[in-house]
Amino acid sequence: MKATAIAPANIAFIKYWGKADDALRLPLNSSISMNLSGCVTTTTVEFSPSYREDIVEFMDQKALTILSRSREDSQSESLRVCNHLDSVRVRAGSSWHARVVTKNFFPKGAGIASSASGFAALTVAAVEALGLTLSEKELTIIARLGSGSACRSIPDGFVEWQKGKNSQTSFAYSLYPENHWDLLDIVVVVQKSQKKIGSTEGMDGVRTSPFLGKRIRNIPDRIKEIKHALAHKDIEFLGALMEEDCINMHAVAMTQKPPIYYWNGTTMDIIRSVCDWRMQGIPAYFTIDAGPNVHLICEAKDEKIVSKKASKIIGVQQIIVNKPAQGARLVEEHLF
Ligand code: DP6
Repeated sequence: MKATAIAPANIAFIKYWGKADDALRLPLNSSISMNLSGCVTTTTVEFSPSYREDIVEFMDQKALTILSRSREDSQSESLRVCNHLDSVRVRAGSSWHARVVTKNFFPKGAGIASSASGFAALTVAAVEALGLTLSEKELTIIARLGSGSACRSIPDGFVEWQKGKNSQTSFAYSLYPENHWDLLDIVVVVQKSQKKIGSTEGMDGVRTSPFLGKRIRNIPDRIKEIKHALAHKDIEFLGALMEEDCINMHAVAMTQKPPIYYWNGTTMDIIRSVCDWRMQGIPAYFTIDAGPNVHLICEAKDEKIVSKKASKIIGVQQIIVNKPAQGARLVEEHLF
């Protein structure tokens, strides 16, 4: 009753920011993303009657850190994992507790979606460990309950999360496999520490922004256009739409009550630099999640010049180059 899964983080070109239903994590809008080859989470889950409670362990690159040993623990991250195990247990009719060990291969909590890869890997491993046979669509629905963006880390490559009207119709599916387009996401890390306001908390106040309605009304057209850009591998069109949606999302966040400013000074310096590079003929575009780090989207042929220029900006701590990646999948090697 042990299984291990690996799942990628993903970067949204059209972002999820706001829920229609908090408990079911139904989003206010559909979103589109690309899976990231260099930012992955591996998770092993073992269910057994010998466990008296759920044990959740977060492993760093060097050592095993036990963050929590029970759901009574105040660590909300572990509690979220235990609640997610419940969602899977209910489907399997199981009351067994589990040991979960999870390992991230990228800086956690700094605007790179560790909850997406984390809940996608947890879902695939837990479902397998309890012996359930589910379709990809069903896996995305369960992953969504753990963290909305996690549903987009299940299918391969370039993915749409259709917002849907209820839990069964809010799922993700692959638009194109990872080899469709040699696109890159060069993550420019300007802060590695845990972000102050996570996405869940951040989007709680979304309805207090006067710009929310306007953004949500524009999304269906933007989704159509971005699908066209993906189909035709049109980097300029994709980039323009992606930047527009990113700025719209952050305009909503910055005009919520209380306002949320995810960017720092270096974030703004990178945005300005990218606009300058384009004037010099370098087709690179930015997008930013709920943190200060910047994701630069460009074609593989421009990797060297974009990475070189980005690494020269003062305040940049690390560059992580990601190709489009496969979605979540089972692996043979367990973490314990
Ligand atoms: C800004 O999926 O982390 O990265 O459903 O509350 O867990 P919860 O939120 P989460 O939100 C991601 C927000 C975003 C945009 C995106 O990835 O679409």
